[in-house]
Amino acid sequence: MSERRKLTISDIAKMKGEGRKIVVITAYDYPFATIADRAGIDIILVGDSGGMVSLGYETTIPVSMDEMLMMSKAVARAAKSSLLVGDMPFMSFQISREDAVRNAGRFVKEGRMDAVKIEGGKEFSDTVRAISRTGIPVMGHVGLTPQTATLWQGYRVQGKDARSAEKLIEDAQELESAGAFAIVLEMVPEEVAEIITDKLNVPTIGIGAGRHCDGQVLVLHDILGLYEKFSPKFAKKYADLGKAASEALANYRDDVVSGKFPAQENTFKMDSKQLERLKAAFSKLTEAEV
Ligand code: KIV
Repeated sequence: MSERRKLTISDIAKMKGEGRKIVVITAYDYPFATIADRAGIDIILVGDSGGMVSLGYETTIPVSMDEMLMMSKAVARAAKSSLLVGDMPFMSFQISREDAVRNAGRFVKEGRMDAVKIEGGKEFSDTVRAISRTGIPVMGHVGLTPQTATLWQGYRVQGKDARSAEKLIEDAQELESAGAFAIVLEMVPEEVAEIITDKLNVPTIGIGAGRHCDGQVLVLHDILGLYEKFSPKFAKKYADLGKAASEALANYRDDVVSGKFPAQENTFKMDSKQLERLKAAFSKLTEAEV
């Protein structure tokens, strides 16, 4: 693939206008961000899902700003052309607008992200507005919002009845008015996602929201077979790296135990002169000891 220039927010906006699908994947570390960037992924989201799939928490609730920043920095060191979005973790934007702006600023200044993402509907439109006004682009996230879903209803499809579908549409429209440059729609019926996508000027990025969104996002570990605890219906498994890695490590263990590894080609050797000198030095040492 030829080298791409760095994608910008206006490139992403143009893609909707031109009917080009936006491809988003999560990443949390240097090696996978390198692979995602090289694969031509448009947006890499350093999601708080990293707290679960990479750091091993049961939910995204415990993920801290410092953990998000560490993952963001690693991703930013790798990615040359993908647009980078840092996911604001639970309680990094809810306490006050000042706090939200400060933490969004940390994602850009310290984490070297190009934008941030905030979970929640119109109740956070003032927060989105405040951050956008500082010049930091914000991605909205409505529908299933895992940070609060964990505390309330669990993981369920959102907007299945007329009232909740209407609320979702309003939420998305208010976030757009507040300055969001794109909106994630998570676990929303395809029909509702299509209405929202048609109504908004900014792109919608679906995850479990059907085929009509302007783009799609998935969690890297779900599509690569690296997270065993849970496999959402909406994710497609493109590889089974977990199985491949288990086999590789079992082979390594067997090779060490049987003496097959290291083999000659993995070993450093001296040339004959170096060996002669070593032997001479060794015999001198032994004589001195006697
Ligand atoms: O944290 C995350 O990975 C996300 C995506 C599921 C959109 O928020």
